[in-house]
Amino acid sequence: MTVETPEQLEKLHKIGQIVAQTIRLMGSHVQAGITTKELDEIGRAYLKSCGAQSAPELVYNFPGATCISVNHEVAHGIPGNRRIQPGDMVNIDVSAEGDGFFGDAGYTFLVEPVIDIQRHIATTAWKALARAITQVRAGQPLNVIGRAIEVTAQENGCSVILNIGSHGVGSGLHEEPLFIPSFYDESDTRTMHEGMVITIEPFISSGAWEVEEAADGWTLCTTPGFYTAQFEHTMVITKSGARLMTELPAAS
Ligand code: CO
Ligand code: CO
Repeated sequence: MTVETPEQLEKLHKIGQIVAQTIRLMGSHVQAGITTKELDEIGRAYLKSCGAQSAPELVYNFPGATCISVNHEVAHGIPGNRRIQPGDMVNIDVSAEGDGFFGDAGYTFLVEPVIDIQRHIATTAWKALARAITQVRAGQPLNVIGRAIEVTAQENGCSVILNIGSHGVGSGLHEEPLFIPSFYDESDTRTMHEGMVITIEPFISSGAWEVEEAADGWTLCTTPGFYTAQFEHTMVITKSGARLMTELPAAS
């Protein structure tokens, strides 16, 4: 969507903050022994208490309130009886609707003890997101996002997942621009315009280049043995840069 009024911006920010708080709350419970279903129930209860609805359930009939993807699961993992183990990488992706507006964010949690490569992948994914955000400005080509992500991955000896990417969001969960790749596409002539609402969500890997849908019909996985991390923010594009909807105020 394109934000045109202060009221729209306020509502987007409100649902964005709810999404971010949900991830923070769920993340505070990520530890060895908890099941992904228990984590999901924490998220579900919090969303409900805020008057928000799970977007994956609302839009896609996803079997869970949030997406929890562990290790070689990269996205759209279904919450279930799996118990978190020491050394797991746990991606929590929360998207929700409130008052007709959608926010979408993701964070990869490391369950200690992890090995250096896991930490490196997570750090690189975070850097890729931060760098891509600095490229956002009304009037810029959209493909500078993919370039920033790809360059960050290359500089750090990582691969990017080519077949999932960032997207427009706001009045729906996934809307135009529908696929913003994590790589530089020279032929992509789309531009960023003022008020455009997008996510940026780099998927950075230790060597995998693509994900495949698992037999459950939802979970997107790499070949086992690779480590992949994703971080995601929802933002509004302005003349001076990105305004993050899903960033929480610094803890005081
Ligand atoms: Co997401
Ligand atoms: Co997204």
